[in-house]
Amino acid sequence: MSGEIVLVTGAASGIGRACAVAFANAGAKAVVLADLDEAGGHETAREVARAGAQAEFVPTDVSRPGDVERLIQRVVELYGRLDVAVNNAGIEGRSARLVDQTEADWDRVLDVNAKGVFLCMRAELPQMVRQSSGAIVNMASIAGIVGFTWAAPYVASKHAIIGLTKTAAIEVSKKGVRVNAVAPGIIKTPMIDRVTKGDPQAEAGMVELEPVGRLGTPDEIANAVLWLASDRACFVTGETLVVDGGYVAR
Ligand SMILES: NC(=O)c1ccc[n+]([C@@H]2O[C@H](COP(=O)([O-])OP(=O)(O)OC[C@H]3O[C@@H](n4cnc5c(N)ncnc54)[C@H](O)[C@@H]3O)[C@@H](O)[C@H]2O)c1
Repeated sequence: MSGEIVLVTGAASGIGRACAVAFANAGAKAVVLADLDEAGGHETAREVARAGAQAEFVPTDVSRPGDVERLIQRVVELYGRLDVAVNNAGIEGRSARLVDQTEADWDRVLDVNAKGVFLCMRAELPQMVRQSSGAIVNMASIAGIVGFTWAAPYVASKHAIIGLTKTAAIEVSKKGVRVNAVAPGIIKTPMIDRVTKGDPQAEAGMVELEPVGRLGTPDEIANAVLWLASDRACFVTGETLVVDGGYVAR
C-alpha cells in the first residue's frame, strides 16, 4: 500500500476504523475518513496518524449525493488521486419481521447501505478510470448471500451491494480498475452490540451460529479488504470474498 491514497467510509467505528488503521500500518500515504460521527471520525484520524499516515476526516452522509460528490472532490483536491476506496458505511436497521417493517425502515436502510455504495462508486470510478488504476472494496455481508429473519431491508441492501459490485467490476474491467466486495460473518463491533443490546446470552447465541465457535474481529475483515485492494489480488474482480468463520458453509 506504499504511498497510496485510501478512502474509507464508515471509518468512525468497528470494521471501518480497523480498515483505516490497517491501511496506515501497511504504508498508505494518506487515509481519508468519511462518516456521520465526527467524534469517532476524529478518534480514527488520531489512530491513523499514530500508525504513520496522513489522516483527513470529512463529515459525510453517504446517502446524500452532494456529500459524496464533495467527499471525492476533497480527496482529489488534497492528494490529486484516489487509489483505494472502501465503501463500508452501513446501518443494521430496525429488528422486525418483514410484515412489521415500515416504508421508512426500508428507505433508510436501502438509502445508506445500497444507494450509499452506488453514490460512492458513481463518484469514485471516474477518478480511478482517469488514472487507469484503482481498487474498490464494498462492504457486503453474509446477509448478502443468505436470508436472515427480522432484517429484510438489511438483507435486501446487502444482496444489492453484491450485484452492484459485479456490475461495476464488468463496466471498468478494461480500465485498470478492480471492484470487489467482502462479506463478513458476525463481527464483534458496536453494530453487533446494538443488536444484542449488550446481553451476553444474545451474544452467546450468535457465537453458536459461527462454526469456528467465536465471533470475528474487525482486524480479520481488514486483512481481507487489504488483500483485495492490493496488487496480490490483481486478477480478482467482481468477487465477493466471504470472511465468516464458516457461517455460510453449513
Ligand atoms: N459487524 C458485523 O457483524 C457485520 C457483518 C457483516 C457486514 N457488516 C457491515 O460492515 C460495515 C461496518 O459495520 P460495523 O459492524 O463496523 O458497524 P458500526 O456501527 O460499528 O460502524 C458503522 C459506521 O458507519 C457509519 N455510518 C452509518 N450511517 C452512515 C452514513 N449514512 N454515512 C456515513 N457513515 C455512516 C456509522 O456512524 C459508523 O461509524 C457495515 O456496512 C455493516 O453492514 C458488519
